Amino acid sequence: MKNISNSHPSDRLIFALDAGGYEEAVSWIDRLAGSVGMFKVGKELFTAVGPKIVEHIKGRNSRVFLDLKFHDIPNTVARAGEAAVGLSVDMFNVHAAGGSRMIRDTVDAAAVRAKQRGIACPVILAVTVLTSLNDGDLAEIGFEKRTGDLVLHLAKMAHRAGASGAVASPQDIAALRAHLPEDFVIVTPGIRSAAQPVKDDQKRTLSAGEAIAAGADYIVVGRPIRQARDPLAACRQITEEIAAGLAARRRT
Ligand code: C5P
Repeated sequence: MKNISNSHPSDRLIFALDAGGYEEAVSWIDRLAGSVGMFKVGKELFTAVGPKIVEHIKGRNSRVFLDLKFHDIPNTVARAGEAAVGLSVDMFNVHAAGGSRMIRDTVDAAAVRAKQRGIACPVILAVTVLTSLNDGDLAEIGFEKRTGDLVLHLAKMAHRAGASGAVASPQDIAALRAHLPEDFVIVTPGIRSAAQPVKDDQKRTLSAGEAIAAGADYIVVGRPIRQARDPLAACRQITEEIAAGLAARRRT
């Protein structure tokens, strides 16, 4: 995947393609292809319509983040990673809790398959702790660490195992930036405009500019674009905020 540091600010904007079906997804792709850097295809859409949605995005010369959060025995996830490379996705993710061998085997298998196909290896992200889980939920599952400590622990482990980066909530960006190398990729959802009062089910949010200034490399945005009166204008506004966030980062 091309180096993000020299690219246009809109390349850092990932649109969450949380559409109900194929036709709806395609109409969003055709509408936004020139205005966002990547389309995130998640479990719901992929399970409903399958790989053809990825093929449609790639056919439009756009990039794909396959958000299927693989978590299984190492061999199974490694084969799934190879299949993701077979679809030419630009980014995919695995649950860090699957363990370092699962991550390592997947990173290695994806790299081999990408080399065979003569394409760049996708960015492989680790999901640390789902933001739907709090300290009480972690204790119930049997994890002894508190949320923030577990996020950092899993991110470091994933990095050592070869993951390119992590999905990080707005409140975790600073800790990851402080403890992981600069080239560790951070992708952050939970983005809402400072001016937008409605925060729907996202509780701890940052604006696009704040997340980028704090060190996120990419931001994931869904409803603030999908539900905007003018979605293209919303993309432009977010891209401007990303540019401002990058400028703020350079000043510090
Ligand atoms: O509509 P909204 O901007 O909230 O969409 C954010 C996207 O990022 C959704 O696809 C959501 O599932 C995903 N996501 C999230 N928070 C996480 C991880 C993923 O909102 N912690």
